[in-house]
Amino acid sequence: MNFHILTLFPEMVLGGLGTSITGRAMEKGVISVEAINIRDYSHDKHHHVDDAPYGGGAGMVMQPGPVCEAYEDLCARLGKKPRVIYMTPQGRVFNQTIAQELAGEEDLVFLCGHYEGIDERALELICTDYLSIGDYVLTGGELPAMVMIDCISRLVPGVLNNEVSAEVESFHDNLLEYPQYTRPEIFRDMAVPPVLLTGHHKNIEEWRRQQSIKRTLERRPDLLAGAVLSKKERKYLEALLAEQAAAEKAVEEKAAAEKAVEEKAAAEKAAEEKAAAEQAVAEMAAEEKAAAEQEAAEADGLSVFAEPSKEESPEGADRQEMKE
Ligand code: ADE
Repeated sequence: MNFHILTLFPEMVLGGLGTSITGRAMEKGVISVEAINIRDYSHDKHHHVDDAPYGGGAGMVMQPGPVCEAYEDLCARLGKKPRVIYMTPQGRVFNQTIAQELAGEEDLVFLCGHYEGIDERALELICTDYLSIGDYVLTGGELPAMVMIDCISRLVPGVLNNEVSAEVESFHDNLLEYPQYTRPEIFRDMAVPPVLLTGHHKNIEEWRRQQSIKRTLERRPDLLAGAVLSKKERKYLEALLAEQAAAEKAVEEKAAAEKAVEEKAAAEKAAEEKAAAEQAVAEMAAEEKAAAEQEAAEADGLSVFAEPSKEESPEGADRQEMKE
């Protein structure tokens, strides 16, 4: 299988893919990875490949000429027009099913944009697929292209040493991979699951399938709808679901009981505060009443020495008027 990457950073993709399993697959010749530098197709003496966007706005846009010409040159060399996948967060999100479908192609072109993207006319002219690696925005398409090429490569016969491992792992049968263990048998007081030490292949296989089902239910329950399970495995899944429902119910009941205790305590506190406030008001009223009575009593006592009325004393009347 031949991967052709249209990029402004050939060293980035070749460095990444030339390492480890994909690197070995390249050496063996089971895959080939070619990086085509879009800048080599620049029309500009300074090798510019970008310009300001028409209509204004931030950043620069990759010009259509160098992109189209890089692709056309490749097509002329190959004598055919391979599929062109544009790396963009606006694309379909890449997954194992798409990888399997793409692994059936002989040649694939990955177009990596930079800056604010590529002139739409180039995309309209050459792109057949728009793919994303997830709902987040990267600075360029090189890492997404490397992710997809890595994933597709391992489905190409001869890339993995162990032919079965590509099948058995995560997403085979829509189930996640079971947990793996190696030496030592005990690590920091944690033992390897005993069944794995028995050498009983049937039991080990059954345990692994159950672990896959359990893990998929815990981490990716959305996958289970597409999983192919035996009758016994379906029963196991039903038991896990019942366990999960019981655990959820217990959590809900505990939360409800805690809420009831909290509400009771809050109601008691509110009642206490209300009673205290009422008592305070009653005490204030009693104090006011006592003060008023005291004042009245004092006023009665003083009335013995009260000044004569206006009628009784003309001077008194004068003083009263002056006061007013
Ligand atoms: N280019 C920038 N972000 C990307 C993403 N999430 N997937 C694919 N290409 C991208």
